[in-house]
This record gives sequence, structure tokens and C-alpha cells, in this order.
Amino acid sequence: MIVLGIESTAHTFGIGIVNDSRKGEKKVLANVKDTFTTKKGGIIPAKAADHHVDVCDIVLKDALAIAKLKLEDVNVIAYSQSPGIGHCLKIGAMFARSLSAKYNKPLVGVNHCIAHLEIGRLVTSAKDPVLLYLSGANTQVIAYEGKKYRIFGETLDMGIGNFLDSFARDLGLGFPGGPVVEIFAKKGKYVELPYSVKGMDMNFGGMLTNLKQKIKSGKYKKEDLCYSIQETAFAMMVEVAERALAHCDKKELLLGGGVACNKRLQEMCNKMCKARGAKMFVPANEFLVDNAAMIAWLGLLQFKAGDKLKIEKADIKPYLRTDEIEVKWRKD
Ligand code: ATP
Ligand code: FE2
Repeated sequence: MIVLGIESTAHTFGIGIVNDSRKGEKKVLANVKDTFTTKKGGIIPAKAADHHVDVCDIVLKDALAIAKLKLEDVNVIAYSQSPGIGHCLKIGAMFARSLSAKYNKPLVGVNHCIAHLEIGRLVTSAKDPVLLYLSGANTQVIAYEGKKYRIFGETLDMGIGNFLDSFARDLGLGFPGGPVVEIFAKKGKYVELPYSVKGMDMNFGGMLTNLKQKIKSGKYKKEDLCYSIQETAFAMMVEVAERALAHCDKKELLLGGGVACNKRLQEMCNKMCKARGAKMFVPANEFLVDNAAMIAWLGLLQFKAGDKLKIEKADIKPYLRTDEIEVKWRKD
């Protein structure tokens, strides 16, 4: 079966194409995207939506060319239905509806966070992992229990990527900040920062205020602040992920989201996993960051489990949470 997926939850407009009759990672035939960016970072919803309208045709054309397919060959159209920014989600849903109507193809709406987890299960050998999902807007620890992907811990304020970007902006490192912070951190020494894990949840507001004060004081080296923000914030993530592994009695940790590209984060997670006899899985960067192959893949799993949307029901659900969705496609 061939499924075309459309991603449009925030900055990224993407088209991915998957075919489940091929093996392993080769199931992904195309994974094309175009990302809306501004110099200072952040997102202006209406402008991001305009960007998605501008690029949708060319991204589709490129994806079909890479997959060597025509729309007629596609069996199902999937789109990111939740969660995300309303303005952006609407463009993806409209594009999916128009393709579905024009080519008479069934439609499936999918959840972006669950898609990160399912693409990880496809492209690594993880079977039943705890997902540490660290992106710009999202910071969640997710695991499968009782027919649902449950959220075991999450940020109580901003996502870790937005937190790193905001710190990097104050330090004059440009946008996106995460990759630059990673480079500066390599030459830094530790300075103490507030560490905030509450039960299974975490927050970054206090650490950001503290960092802003340290930047303003002019007494600290950039490298030291970059090193310390990574050590502190990542240790918070690792603590929650470890407790989720213990609580669920699972033996696999899967990473997802743009911040998971960070090598120091990967190293810290790996150490924790080794110490408790668990295994860490890291998909290639193209499947860590927002991408449409994951939307196509989850669409395929859902369609095979009987999910299908009538065009008039193909809406968006900007606030739908991961644990509100019944996981019909897993047998365990
Ligand atoms: P979502 O809509 O799911 O929240 P997003 O639009 O923020 O996702 P992603 O590509 O998943 O997109 O993540 C982008 C974030 O990842 C940015 O905040 C960026 O700074 C961060 N990032 C990318 N590479 C690194 C890195 N090497 N180290 C730390 N952070 C990184
Ligand atoms: Fe994402």
C-alpha cells in the first residue's frame, strides 16, 4: 500500500510517501519539506500559513518525482490533524481534502506526536519504547500502555527547543539556537543553574530567567552558559525518561524531535540506558525533526486498522492530546 502524508503542524510543510511492501527504512520513498523561518526565530502563524500555501505544489511535485510516482498510484492521503497551530494545520487539511476529492482517494487524519514515535519504530529496531520527544514546542515522555500512548511527563511551560532558542537569541547566537549552543558547549565549564523537575514534569521558565540575569551581568563566558544549560536541562529530561522506563518496566528508549539531534543529549541518554540494562534508539536526523514521512507511515498504520475520514469530517484538532487517541493499530 502507498500512502502520501502531509505535515503542516507549525514551521514545516512536508510531503512524505511510504510503501509498506518494501523493507525497513526503504519503505520511505520520499520525504520532502520546506520550512518557514525568520531571522529571530519564533513563528507568526498567518505568515507560516502563507508560506505553506506558497510551497505546497512544489513540495508535492518534488516528492512525487523522488518516489517516481503519480498521484494516481497513491492509495491513501494522510495529513497531520493534531496538535499544532490552527493556521498551519488548516492549510495541510485543505490540501489533503482537495487531493482526496480530485483523485478520489481515502483520507486519514493523524496525530503528529504519535507519528514521531511510530516512525522511530519503523526506522530503528525499537519495538515498545518510551519516547523522549524533544522539539521546539513539545517536550514529552510518551509510552504505550493499555491501548493508548500515555504522557508520563511533560513540560509545564515552554518546549525545550524554544527554551534553547530563546536563550541563544539573548546570547546573540542567532536562530535556530540549539545547534550553535551545542558547538559552544564543547568548550564550556559548569556554572550552577536552577534544576526543575516536579514529579514527572519539568519547567524551564526559572532557568531562563536565571540565564538572562547571568547574560546581563556580563560575568559569564558564552561557552560556560551553553555547557551548563545543556548539562542541566538534559539531566532533567534524562531523569524523567529514566523514571518512565522504570515505571512502565520497558527496556527501550527512543529519541524524537529536533533537540534529539544533539550529540550530548544522546550521550547522556545512552549512559542512563546502559546503567539500567536498556537500549537507546536514535533515528536519522531527517526522521527526528518534523517530517512528513512519519505522517504517511502513521496514516498507513491507521488506515490498515480501519481508520478513514469522510471529506466533510476531515477537520483539524489543534489541542488534541496524545493520550486521547485509541491505538487501534497495535495488537499488544
Ligand atoms: P514541533 O512542532 O514538533 O514542536 P519544531 O517545529 O520545533 O517541532 P523540530 O525540527 O522538531 O521542529 O525542532 C526544532 C528545534 O530543535 C529548534 O528549537 C532547534 O533549536 C532544536 N535543535 C536542532 N538541532 C539541535 C541540536 N543539535 N541541539 C539542540 N537543539 C537542536
Ligand atoms: Fe514535531
